[in-house]
Amino acid sequence: MLLETQNISKSFPGVKALDQVSLRLQPASVNALLGENGAGKSTLLKILTGVYARYEGTILLNGEPVRFGSVREARQAGIAIIHQELNLVPQLTVAENLFLGQELRTPLGLLDVAGMNRKTEEVLAKVNLAIPPQTRVQRLKVGEQQLVEIAKVLLTDAAVILMDEPTSALSDAEIDNLHRIIRALKQEGRTIVYISHKMDELFRIADTYSVLRDGVMQGEGRMADTTEQELIRMMVGRDVRIETKTNGTGKEEEVLRVSDLGLQHPYVSRRMALQGISFGLKKGEILGIFGLMGAGRTELLETLFGLHPDRSKFDLVLEGKPCKVQSPLSAIRQGLAFVTEDRKGEGLILGADISANISLPTLAGKAVLRKSKENAQARSYISRLAIKTPSEGQLCRNLSGGNQQKVVLAKWLSTQPRILFMDEPTRGIDIRAKHDFYELMKQLAAGGMSIILVSSEIPEILTLSDRILVMAEGRITASFSASDVDEDRLLKAALPGQINPDRRLRQP
Ligand SMILES: Nc1ncnc2c1ncn2[C@@H]1O[C@H](COP(=O)(O)OP(=O)(O)OP(=O)(O)O)[C@@H](O)[C@H]1O
Ligand SMILES: [Mg+2]
Repeated sequence: MLLETQNISKSFPGVKALDQVSLRLQPASVNALLGENGAGKSTLLKILTGVYARYEGTILLNGEPVRFGSVREARQAGIAIIHQELNLVPQLTVAENLFLGQELRTPLGLLDVAGMNRKTEEVLAKVNLAIPPQTRVQRLKVGEQQLVEIAKVLLTDAAVILMDEPTSALSDAEIDNLHRIIRALKQEGRTIVYISHKMDELFRIADTYSVLRDGVMQGEGRMADTTEQELIRMMVGRDVRIETKTNGTGKEEEVLRVSDLGLQHPYVSRRMALQGISFGLKKGEILGIFGLMGAGRTELLETLFGLHPDRSKFDLVLEGKPCKVQSPLSAIRQGLAFVTEDRKGEGLILGADISANISLPTLAGKAVLRKSKENAQARSYISRLAIKTPSEGQLCRNLSGGNQQKVVLAKWLSTQPRILFMDEPTRGIDIRAKHDFYELMKQLAAGGMSIILVSSEIPEILTLSDRILVMAEGRITASFSASDVDEDRLLKAALPGQINPDRRLRQP
């Protein structure tokens, strides 16, 4: 065994996160770690990398007991981690982030800027990210930041690489590329631990599995000897009914019409990030928007939500009346809500508790909400979305990643918007919670809420949407009704280069 844990236990106030967990990892293997939100997966990886120095039990590295007091010690021992939460410094460049704390120096002891830039270019090419090393991280989308985090561990020569949901913000093409990288790492003899809620990925990449439930190891084995149903049963403790599609019909009343939307490119003058976008949204309709990374889906939602008033131009009709949305506040006043893809940056106040976070947007309108009412509301969402927490008074910082995402959803649902925008809403959410969430979405739509859903997960888009728009290169390339589309047609429409060449933009 390369790395082994024996009877690891870890408690937080009110929560036993890990209970006597033993895990054995062989060299040159890819090991899937599975479990529902809050099962203890991230906690285990954090113990292995010295983030938590206090725990019970033993870690053996090459047969020798080790105890890491810090992330640095673990890294020196050859264990590297890609954290679930992005950890880059937004104000620094990509190269600066990659070499933070491990700067290259010239023989004279000066910073070797050229060398670091060159190495950065090399690893960025490996992860297929075509950006200059000097790009500031704050300019990158969440998916791009995730690729930078992956590039960062590729710089190390760690023997063990722990990947905590490395693909949650990646689309299929980037996931394929990451899998190629992982296979190469395995060839080099390295050991990978891989966490993901996407089952099909695990069957493609992993050799072995280990399943945690409520901090207890439920089972281990070879992927080749198990099935998806069996793994789900171990995670959840029972069978889960996988969603079948039920789309409503007869939705007629139009609540939103967007005409000729254009958005100026943020950095390149005379270039458009979005162009010629027109569509309508009916009452009670779930409109899916599909596209590859960089197609402009997030920008479209941002523009409609009033986040780019200076760069955008469009006509908007809300429930039959022409109107203007020039700031998020005016968007909220018109009954719009926006679940953004960036939970850490925009979604949550991590230092506040669950109740406070959920009532935050409602507070913007009303003077003071009574704490008791706030708590009752929070408790109702905790049960509807199965948020795993000792109480509604738990700080969001202390929730697992998937449970934080559920609080973000609750926060915007509580505003009871007429129109809800959601950008990758189920990222990092486990299978059971996902299906509860799908049910809830359908109930809300049946009750008259209209939803625009951006998702890179094709099954999710197909399950939820009544109608699907496909975007590529800042334009809408196709529109399908959910009853006559399949994965193939969606993907074809999403490929760049679709647009009729004579309508194509002239790029400077
Ligand atoms: N710093 C902390 N303080 C208090 N409780 C914590 C803390 N960190 C984690 N927990 C709790 O420990 C449990 C395990 O959390 P962990 O983050 O390991 O889950 P996870 O399996 O990674 O889930 P997810 O799939 O949502 O990322 C959860 O109940 C979580 O709320
Ligand atoms: Mg986690």
